[in-house]
Amino acid sequence: MSPTLPPWRPLLKAACQREGRSVSARWLQLATVSADGKPRVRTLVCRGWADADQLDLFSDGRSSKINDLHHQPAAELCWLFPKARQQYRLRGTMRLITTHDDPQACQAAWEGLTATGRAVWGWPTPEQPLNPAAEFPRELESTTPLPGHFVVLRMHVLGVERLNLGTHPHQRWRWVAETGWREEPLNP
Ligand SMILES: Cc1cc2nc3c(=O)[nH]c(=O)nc-3n(C[C@H](O)[C@H](O)[C@H](O)COP(=O)(O)O)c2cc1C
Repeated sequence: MSPTLPPWRPLLKAACQREGRSVSARWLQLATVSADGKPRVRTLVCRGWADADQLDLFSDGRSSKINDLHHQPAAELCWLFPKARQQYRLRGTMRLITTHDDPQACQAAWEGLTATGRAVWGWPTPEQPLNPAAEFPRELESTTPLPGHFVVLRMHVLGVERLNLGTHPHQRWRWVAETGWREEPLNP
């Protein structure tokens, strides 16, 4: 982990803490561009920080977002903190870490999940027609072999925008890595 955090990290952490123990505090939206050039967005769980500017998500290597990211690694996250009345938008490039690339990191991530959290990786291929006879386990133990389609999505954050609705006027601040994370106040 880099010794110094970018200035937006403590602000983001404080906003997240305002949500208390709510599970939704870790939900964010991942926007990608699909191979047909069209936007796609969906909710994921933030799994933590691999470094000061690197955020981890976990997903299924068989899902559509993986194709999107192979086609266009640039992505954006939108993270809403309703209690703090703040929105963070994180832009960057996404690295796909597969079980082939880094089996140890994937294994550690797999073991760190809850049994119910792991279960979805035991389900049939996402987006295929539903087979009513297929099995959808409710839980998978940590001793279950790491599925080959488990993937860590690691976003290298290159730019951040924070919108704070808790002040008058609203505050909009931008930081980009290129300027050493210099804070830019903007019109909201
Ligand atoms: C609250 C919530 C949390 C979710 N967390 C994840 C997650 O951490 N990883 C994931 O791959 N999908 C997660 N999903 C499912 C995705 O939103 C999405 O439906 C799925 O990944 C398929 O997306 P795709 O077809 O765009 O690839 C979550 C959905 C919800 C509603």
